[in-house]
Amino acid sequence: MHFMADDQIQDNKLQLLGKLTASLVHEIRNPLSAIKLNLDYLKMLDEELSDEVNESINDSSEAVERIQFLVENLLSFSRKKNSDVVMVDINEITKNAVSILKGELQKRNIELRFNLNNLIPSVFFDANKLLQVFLNLITNAMESSNPKGIIKITSGINPEDGTKVFWEVEDNGTGISEENKKKIFQEFYTSKNMGTGLGLSVCKMLVEEHNASITFDSILGKGTKFIVSFNSNISRG
Ligand SMILES: Nc1ncnc2c1ncn2[C@@H]1O[C@H](COP(=O)(O)OP(=O)(O)OP(=O)(O)O)[C@@H](O)[C@H]1O
Ligand SMILES: [Mg+2]
Repeated sequence: MHFMADDQIQDNKLQLLGKLTASLVHEIRNPLSAIKLNLDYLKMLDEELSDEVNESINDSSEAVERIQFLVENLLSFSRKKNSDVVMVDINEITKNAVSILKGELQKRNIELRFNLNNLIPSVFFDANKLLQVFLNLITNAMESSNPKGIIKITSGINPEDGTKVFWEVEDNGTGISEENKKKIFQEFYTSKNMGTGLGLSVCKMLVEEHNASITFDSILGKGTKFIVSFNSNISRG
């Protein structure tokens, strides 16, 4: 009789979760397309409708498009298809991530500041997976922020080593206690009512899949910084 290692149990859980996600996503797709089609139909009637109604239709349509995008992303993620690793511009992916989260950031009255270095080389990564990592990390930063909080996103080359590209997201939100620092990368660990506790586990998995690493610095009550370091890509470029 074999006893499964903790790691193995967690892997199985993740696999199962992947399957559940895939079937859920599949079920969400069709009704979502139906909503989109109906909204598109309403858009064609715009001349007969008031400005207010047209605005609602457009807002709804944009929201549906965002859900569609997220759902497609989840689907390609849970399919576990072969990675499509190419040279990606991390600044570009940052902008994609931010445009997806823009509405939510505005709603929460959070200010974004960028310090993106345009001279950094591309990195080898699956673009969708990197987007997923950035979305998770920026979302966490957002969820820990107070209204009027500030989130800074920085990209650059590690000054100490001169070759490694790094990407950081820093918030001035709640911070993480010493005790919780040990737990945050554990699957299903969450301090949020609606959290699944999988965001960081997924980030870590995706980043390590690409020979990159993820670290963080946090002071309780002051804020948190997550750093993704991309490895040995420059010589391959
Ligand atoms: N920027 C941050 N500031 C403060 N705490 C954080 C930050 N990022 C992560 N954490 C802590 O780490 C926990 C785990 O994060 P993770 O992204 O894995 O899950 P979650 O955000 O709780 O849920 P999910 O991402 O699945 O919606 C969070 O619940 C929170 O306690
Ligand atoms: Mg999260």
